[in-house]
Amino acid sequence: MAHVKFFSGKTLPLEMHKVRIVQKLFLPPVEERCRLMNAAGNNTFLLQNRDVFMDMLTDSGVNAMSDLQQSAMLRADDAYAGSETYNRMVAKVQEIFGFEYFLPVHQGRAAENILATAFVKPGDVIPMNFHFTTTKAHITRLGGRVEELIIKEGLEPVNDCPFKGNFDIPRLETLIQEVGVEKIPFVRIEAGTNLVGGQPLSLQNMREVSAVCKKYGVRLILDASLLQDNLWFIKSREAACKNMTIREITTEIASLMDIIYFSARKLGFARGGGISLRHREDELRMKEFIPLYEGFLTYGGMSVREMEAIVVGLDESMDEDVISQGPQFIEYMANELHRRGVPVVLPAGGLGCHINASEFLAHLPHEQYPAGALAAALYIAGGVRGMERGTLSEQRNEDGSERFAELELLRLAMPRRVYTLSQVEYAIDRVEWLYKNRALVGGLRFVEEPSVLRFFFGRLEPIGNWQEKLAAKFREDFGDSL
Ligand code: F0G
Repeated sequence: MAHVKFFSGKTLPLEMHKVRIVQKLFLPPVEERCRLMNAAGNNTFLLQNRDVFMDMLTDSGVNAMSDLQQSAMLRADDAYAGSETYNRMVAKVQEIFGFEYFLPVHQGRAAENILATAFVKPGDVIPMNFHFTTTKAHITRLGGRVEELIIKEGLEPVNDCPFKGNFDIPRLETLIQEVGVEKIPFVRIEAGTNLVGGQPLSLQNMREVSAVCKKYGVRLILDASLLQDNLWFIKSREAACKNMTIREITTEIASLMDIIYFSARKLGFARGGGISLRHREDELRMKEFIPLYEGFLTYGGMSVREMEAIVVGLDESMDEDVISQGPQFIEYMANELHRRGVPVVLPAGGLGCHINASEFLAHLPHEQYPAGALAAALYIAGGVRGMERGTLSEQRNEDGSERFAELELLRLAMPRRVYTLSQVEYAIDRVEWLYKNRALVGGLRFVEEPSVLRFFFGRLEPIGNWQEKLAAKFREDFGDSL
């Protein structure tokens, strides 16, 4: 993917795959989009997929499978216990990460539930570069506390740091000394960091985190859900790793960890998950929870067909041509938007293109959820569904006050191998139009606010009639066009 030069001198990301199954899309007219957004409580999670033209909500479980994955699914060995499919999955995870033990789970947050249940007790502290919503919810549910130790560059929307997901190593060491190792069941690395724009960590930084953990005897756990993008960034941005293969980088990363867990909805281009473990004691500590929460030990809540797809998908995650597609499309989108003056997170990270909503909608106060308002406005502007990654995705403080997110982002995720470059161009165009008309966009307020993970089901309403005005301006500018 990265290696084809255009005679014209242009640089465009080039797909190293062809599309052989398609799904028809619909684009409801703008007035209809306005109505549908309100019916969905101004929450993009509550839209119906049939009403969405470009679904950039997530890259979780919506990546296109390859022909090899589809064909592997046909040979799945259906058995409650002892399935051959399961043996193939264990062997593949062992081959890639090199650990002896494996526990199957139905998706990433299930692994987090098992890990937290096994290790976290009230008063514990879990250092990590940055939290993910479900990770934090499981830790706090058990009385633990998350400490975020990302470098300061990680929280600046724009700079030229290639590894904004890195740990601040001195802070990690100070924290361990202050809290005491007995209160730290593990340190967690998230590679790359979902909530701050899918930003990667360097291999060097992971080595340093591992050295600190070894010095103090603290277990190190890698959340590898977004590892494939991070592998690509290590290969393309970390000079010392330029000549390493993706497999070699993966082996080196795994050699630093005690446990690696992943959502196969992302890593593996399918649906499912797993926990790969170096130590037998850790496996024994968690094993009993699998039949309790997931399913029997040889399927862990996954369908055998999905497990076969993961086996092939994990191999594809070791292929540079495959894993570069996401980051290169994202970089193209982020750079194009930047060129047109739209505030985006730079350098582009993995997962998706992240728009800086606090700057885009600088006229809106934090309490009116600028990233949520921008998500609603972009659906109205183009039928593009993004995900709020800002204050709505936070949980309120214990005293009920708002906990304002460090970054107020609208994430436009890039499902892998799904959209063509002309569809990406369309999304860029509608974001640019919205930016030119940003003064029309107003805020949101809750009408129904759940107490846990409120961004999933919460319902909001626009403050004032800005959405009708935005739709009217769209009609004026685009005429009959959808
Ligand atoms: N860890 C990370 C870094 C993730 O990005 C996710 C999911 C999970 C854990 C949980 O995995 O969904 O299989 O239970 N991220 C999705 C997203 C939901 O849209 O970013 P899961």
